[in-house]
Amino acid sequence: MLLNLFMAQKDVGNKIPIYKLKTTDEVMKYYDEWGIKNKYDQDMIDWDYTGPKETVATFIKYAKDKNIKILDAGCGTGLVGIELKKHNYLSIDGMDLSKKLLDLIPQGYYQNLDQVDLNKPIKVKNNTYDAIMCVGTFTFGHVKPHALDEFVRISKKKSLICFTINEGIYEEYGFDKKIEELKKNKSWDVKEFFKSDYIASKDVNAWLCLAEVIK
Ligand SMILES: C[S@@+](CC[C@H](N)C(=O)[O-])C[C@H]1O[C@@H](n2cnc3c(N)ncnc32)[C@H](O)[C@@H]1O
Repeated sequence: MLLNLFMAQKDVGNKIPIYKLKTTDEVMKYYDEWGIKNKYDQDMIDWDYTGPKETVATFIKYAKDKNIKILDAGCGTGLVGIELKKHNYLSIDGMDLSKKLLDLIPQGYYQNLDQVDLNKPIKVKNNTYDAIMCVGTFTFGHVKPHALDEFVRISKKKSLICFTINEGIYEEYGFDKKIEELKKNKSWDVKEFFKSDYIASKDVNAWLCLAEVIK
């Protein structure tokens, strides 16, 4: 019985090399190099990475106004912005740690692009955005749960925060507790929370959460 339970546990941390990175500097260096010759985008196609599509598909059920001001936090090469644009959202800003990935984003998808470490306080005024998307960025060694406090701070009342959390770090990094804390202190109301496919080809799934900011 115990053996069966043990065997049922997925060792997600061993599935993909980035999951071994520990420091922000290591993460930045890895992504800077991953972008060369569009290798990141090609890998995402080869791995059938469905995070951006699944997250945007959930988002569009709630975000009916296409003029809202959206932040794509941890935008990488812009896969979420490209997906949002297919659904005619017009006003998207992007932030990411890797300047090299930001430089790869094609013209016409984002209004402002900034190099930002999301583990630090975000230099944006309170109540700025109508929606925040954060896809693939809450994962091993990347951005920690306290960023969600910052997301709430820079979001307007009734705005939407839609994000994935790699299943391998959900409890280990305390995302379960942070989501509950924000519910309990009436910062947000969770509207959707389910296990998404994410990178099913590598047997890695993610929790997909959509919350409405209360304020
Ligand atoms: C798996 S990629 C996801 C990128 C994009 N959202 C997508 O779905 O393709 C994770 C992204 O998080 C960014 N990242 C990692 N640590 C970060 C940090 N501390 N602050 C901001 N971005 C970070 C990486 O540079 C990378 O672009």
